[in-house]
Amino acid sequence: MSLTRVLTGITTSGTPHLGNYVGAIRPAVAASRAPGVESFYFLADYHALIKVQDPARVQRSTLEIAATWLACGLEPDKVWFYRQSDIPETNELTWLLTCVAGKGILNRAHAYKAAVDKNRTEGEDDDAGITAGLFMYPVLMAADILLFNANQVPVGRDQIQHIEMARDFGQRFNHLYGEPAGKEFFSLPEAVIEESVATLPGLDGRKMSKSYDNTIPLFAPRDTLKKLIYSIVTDSRAPGEPKDAGNSNVFQLYQAFASKEETDAMRRAFADGIAWGEAKQALFERIDAEVAPQREKYETLIARPADIEAVLRDGAARLRERYAIPTLQALRAAVGLRDLSQVSTGVAKKASKAAQPVFKQYREADGRFYFKLVDGDRVLLQSTGHESARTAGQLIGRLKQEGGGALHRAEAAAVHMGHDLVGHLHEGVELAEVVQALELFAEDA
Ligand code: TRP
Repeated sequence: MSLTRVLTGITTSGTPHLGNYVGAIRPAVAASRAPGVESFYFLADYHALIKVQDPARVQRSTLEIAATWLACGLEPDKVWFYRQSDIPETNELTWLLTCVAGKGILNRAHAYKAAVDKNRTEGEDDDAGITAGLFMYPVLMAADILLFNANQVPVGRDQIQHIEMARDFGQRFNHLYGEPAGKEFFSLPEAVIEESVATLPGLDGRKMSKSYDNTIPLFAPRDTLKKLIYSIVTDSRAPGEPKDAGNSNVFQLYQAFASKEETDAMRRAFADGIAWGEAKQALFERIDAEVAPQREKYETLIARPADIEAVLRDGAARLRERYAIPTLQALRAAVGLRDLSQVSTGVAKKASKAAQPVFKQYREADGRFYFKLVDGDRVLLQSTGHESARTAGQLIGRLKQEGGGALHRAEAAAVHMGHDLVGHLHEGVELAEVVQALELFAEDA
């Protein structure tokens, strides 16, 4: 039975807050214990550099997020837990993917487009202040995912486009370097959107988010947690006045931490006119009951940063050896970054049998007979269908004998020999390459 690979990255650009906990950390830790999955959790610190150019903050955030995941129950001997920048193969793969990624696709990335739109409304140059890092963000993210052939990537809605791009780049690479053998270097990932997971409101009622500065840090000390919860904005209904649970951020926060029974009881209390102070006290107690034991672990962990460093390094070292290094070795060879000593030293032009173009004959599902001219991993020419293997073979014979001189290119990629349609050039192939390949057969003859 093969395991489903689930992979998730967390950008190390801030301090984990209750919204991260409810939306990502809590469900991910629960999912890591499911049977049949191999989980990958990593700290996306290369991604952090795109947004944060304050080194101390990147370091602090990396420590806090690592300690948070461990405190919340992630078990580094059961899942892959690592730091992106400890896997240099990620960077290497980023370049290989950069060379197949369409620039036009990157132009359409939401984050980049939003930055351009902002410049336009402000009357600035389109790309003012936009780094190439922001532009390349989706390629780096695709490398994170494709390096480990992740099948599922749990993400927020804002990240769906990035998963689609990873699929696109992976598919292009498979197509370009996997043909004609049909080799699949990469599995294509799917985004997993957890519909049932709540989006938490922040202190001001908008979505809890670092960019709105309305967050409640997950492991704020107890008295800070209490103070922050008491500062949540509410309407001005007095004690005794019925309150609308459906529209209350205090209620929504409560619901994210409470059981069904507790939630129902709180809904009734709202209808009965619970005072805001009382509702906030209940909310504080409910959250604190859940996070207090984890907060204690967190404080112990974060006081020993060297231990966390050791956990991360160990995870990355094992992961590189098991997957990243061998994968990159195969990918380097696939694209032609190869050991030169493996080139045989005959006459350059006829280097080896394997390096010579060949005709491959086959029969399609339509019952007709086809051939293609293949040079190494590259298909040059694809024939039209023939009634019999014999007529296909005869045409190959003529091509070998007469060489490319008799060929000419007609409309689109169609290749003719005299009046006869021979076949079509494969995408991106020029007629000259076919002519050159046929020259080698002529010399043999
Ligand atoms: N871009 C993601 C975010 O901001 C973080 C991330 C980086 C990621 N690489 C990833 C998520 C790979 C999933 C898979 O949320």
